[in-house]
Amino acid sequence: MSANVDRTTVRQLLLETLSSARFRRATFAGPARGEPTPWKRVTVRPLQLRGRPHLQFSYFDGRKTRTNNFPLDAVEPPLEELLSSQFAGIHLSSADEEIDLRTTKKGQIQLGRRRVAVPPEAPMAHNRVKQVPLPEGRADRLLEAMGIVTRTGRVRPTMRDKFTQINEFLKQLLHLLDDSGLRGLGRPIEILDCGCGASYLTLAVHHYLNEILHLPARILGVDVNEEVIRKSMERADRLRAEGLSFACGRIGELQTRADLVLALHACDTATDDALAQAVRSQARLILGVPCCHHHLNDLLRAEGEATVLRPILRHGILRQRTADLVTDAFRALLLRLLGYRTEVVEFVSLEHTARNLMIRAVRGAPVGEPALVREYLALKQFWNVTPYLERLLAPQVAPIFDRLSSFSDDCR
Ligand SMILES: C[S@@+](CC[C@H](N)C(=O)[O-])C[C@H]1O[C@@H](n2cnc3c(N)ncnc32)[C@H](O)[C@@H]1O
Repeated sequence: MSANVDRTTVRQLLLETLSSARFRRATFAGPARGEPTPWKRVTVRPLQLRGRPHLQFSYFDGRKTRTNNFPLDAVEPPLEELLSSQFAGIHLSSADEEIDLRTTKKGQIQLGRRRVAVPPEAPMAHNRVKQVPLPEGRADRLLEAMGIVTRTGRVRPTMRDKFTQINEFLKQLLHLLDDSGLRGLGRPIEILDCGCGASYLTLAVHHYLNEILHLPARILGVDVNEEVIRKSMERADRLRAEGLSFACGRIGELQTRADLVLALHACDTATDDALAQAVRSQARLILGVPCCHHHLNDLLRAEGEATVLRPILRHGILRQRTADLVTDAFRALLLRLLGYRTEVVEFVSLEHTARNLMIRAVRGAPVGEPALVREYLALKQFWNVTPYLERLLAPQVAPIFDRLSSFSDDCR
């Protein structure tokens, strides 16, 4: 149902909706009656800056986006400017309502309002519904566009594992936002998603930080596969998501900086490429979920000190699992030597993916602690290998090894 309204009502409605705690997003687009508008599209969304509520206005001119942040009590002037810009369509989203304002060719303004399902109240103590970053059962435009949920918010059976992986990944991110200092940057968080594939995680992280936590974040998804990048770009365009971009290429060839580096199941040494890129970028936080490991599996030999492990390396599956463990142990220790507090955890239960280990690393540990360097060198000597990640980070690792040998010389 729609009704005609006048401009005073529109102004009032905009002010009320945008200053409400339930406000999620507003979009202004399309010229009314063919009149040119200064921008192709303007979006407004809430965010917190230094603990105070603000609105972020993003002005897209067809090529680039400019953003301005205004405290809630200073949004009237930019709103007036938008109202005088003659946009044909204004769409307002809040937690419980979708509002459409459309200016017809005759100049009439039509108002349409639709209530949306509000998720049930927080579960009682005895209720076993889990609290997750992206809850099930809520109509969600993004999860629907990703093909993860139906229009009514039900998770599609084939997408259950991906949905759970994403939620558990987001929980890890939330858990480390403060510890890594990402929450207090005072500027948008720059994120790199390595081996983004169909970009489920990319979109979910963008949505979670920007729309749910109201933390401004820009994210670049990178993948070597042209087809997945093309589809991801189309979907980002359809969703009109600001600060979401994709690039086709190999992770190792990137020239970009990031505060947060993500890699969910980037194949084989692509995980190492992602970790190396993060270290070179001095990323504050790294969340990497390794996938298959082939590099070290081909190098492990039951020789020298490792001869005793022949009964394990003889069997393909045991050899594979050993290679997995050794690879991730080398990765975690190397990150630690390079100044990251690193942990290896199970981020999701095995029923949702066999590859369920996450390497999570927060910058801020001492670099090159001698006892740990010795541990690392001893592990290398035992297996008689050089991990792929060490090769990628040779310029960063060499001074640490040099320091240890000069320290040992001094002690002689
Ligand atoms: C198993 S998929 C994971 C996709 C996504 N992260 C997810 O979990 O849904 C691995 C992706 O990594 C990409 N990939 C593998 N090696 C890569 C490299 N060196 N550089 C960029 N992308 C790579 C593949 O094309 C593939 O899309």
